[in-house]
Amino acid sequence: MLDNKKTATLNVHGRTLELPVHSPTLGPDVIDIRKLYAEGDVFTYDPGFTSTASCESTITYIDGDEGVLLYRGYSIDDLAEKSHFLEVCYILLYGDLPTAEQLEDFETRVTHHTMLHEQMQYFFRGFRRDAHPMATMVGVVGAMSAFYHDSTDIGDPWQREVAAIRMIAKMPTIAAWAYKYSVGQPFVYPRNDLDYASNFLRMCFAVPAEDYEVNPILARAMDRIMTLHADHEQNASTSTVRLAGSSGANPFACIAAGIACLWGPAHGGANQACLEMLQEIGTVDRIPEFIRRAKDKDDPFRLMGFGHRVYKNFDPRAKVMKQSADEVLGLLGVENNETLQVAKELERIALEDDYFVSKKLYPNVDFYSGIILEAMGFPTSMFTPIFALSRTVGWISQWKEMIADPSQKIGRPRQLYVGPPHRPYIEVEDR
Ligand code: ACO
Repeated sequence: MLDNKKTATLNVHGRTLELPVHSPTLGPDVIDIRKLYAEGDVFTYDPGFTSTASCESTITYIDGDEGVLLYRGYSIDDLAEKSHFLEVCYILLYGDLPTAEQLEDFETRVTHHTMLHEQMQYFFRGFRRDAHPMATMVGVVGAMSAFYHDSTDIGDPWQREVAAIRMIAKMPTIAAWAYKYSVGQPFVYPRNDLDYASNFLRMCFAVPAEDYEVNPILARAMDRIMTLHADHEQNASTSTVRLAGSSGANPFACIAAGIACLWGPAHGGANQACLEMLQEIGTVDRIPEFIRRAKDKDDPFRLMGFGHRVYKNFDPRAKVMKQSADEVLGLLGVENNETLQVAKELERIALEDDYFVSKKLYPNVDFYSGIILEAMGFPTSMFTPIFALSRTVGWISQWKEMIADPSQKIGRPRQLYVGPPHRPYIEVEDR
């Protein structure tokens, strides 16, 4: 419930407007400008929405200055250490920690929805073998609305719930099959006796010709990657899901839109771009050259995995990820991995460099995640699909929150028009 005892005064066009100011549970006050156009005949201008709240939300809170990330009030450090991904899904979807029975029931529901409609195999087979798995995921997830008609009525809370469970459950199968298809191996079906992360690793790396044992430490690291990526309030892909959903589009179409947005290198595509950059740097002695390029205004090169729109102190997810990278590489006996050495040295040099310090550029979650995924055996093209499957629960939770919000309207930003004014059309022979 918004309280608007405080107001802000705006003088515009000779009129004085009193705008309500809302105080959130955490974070800065928010000026409510909904009546601005009707009462003041003006719009606001905010490309990239750097100062604009697009919705009320109870799901995730970020304090960019303090490096804090909370899911429903629980800190990401606590969740990464003490919880696991399916419990985190429950917290994001339903708002509170589950009891043991609630968790068991939720895990059973997710586990029993992991298989894909058998006919969906033909979708995978219809793509070129060299398709990026993100392209395949956008297509297959969009196609789910053609297969699961009984969960596309967004006005029915039960159908919304079924769509949520289906997407959380099936996304690892879709990502794993996109990978299997790209390497020409048979699809591996999900197994109900495995936990979520182990099941995903098995669907990616098992082959019918031999047994595959999931390494529990790798499964734990994968579960942590999923937990750290599960939600991140109103980022570009989440806002895309909300905007698509605001028109009443079905949930599968909305999540497909989110996946498409996530793919961009400034967003989820950064983990692939970051590892490729670390490999291109190759050795520690080449770091200064890349630092110089990142600082050069005439060079479009940026240090991938560095910087964040919101975090201006440190990204709390990067801290956990760095620790996980050390654990996983230690376990695999590759702690002297050249890429990890380059990453650590690059981080050290950048954090002492005036350019990065003054612009508050710190390693983000993607800086270390690629190193872990590569050590597990994933090709770089699978990094963003793993992000997408982890973020699905965040997208779905935000979508469900939006649909249930009585103040929800179709998203329709305004613009600052700077094109030509009305002008007469001239016949072609007179131009
Ligand atoms: N390397 C070098 N310079 C950078 C970097 C970088 N990685 N990031 C920002 N800067 C500089 C910009 O050139 C700009 O300099 P200027 O003020 O002199 O023009 C200044 O820092 C501010 O940058 P903006 O792009 O305006 O900041 P914004 O908040 O819009 O962008 C973003 C944030 C997109 C994450 C940016 O830092 C970036 O491109 N990083 C690399 C890509 C990346 O790692 N993305 C992953 C984000 S996390 C995620 O999606 C999970």
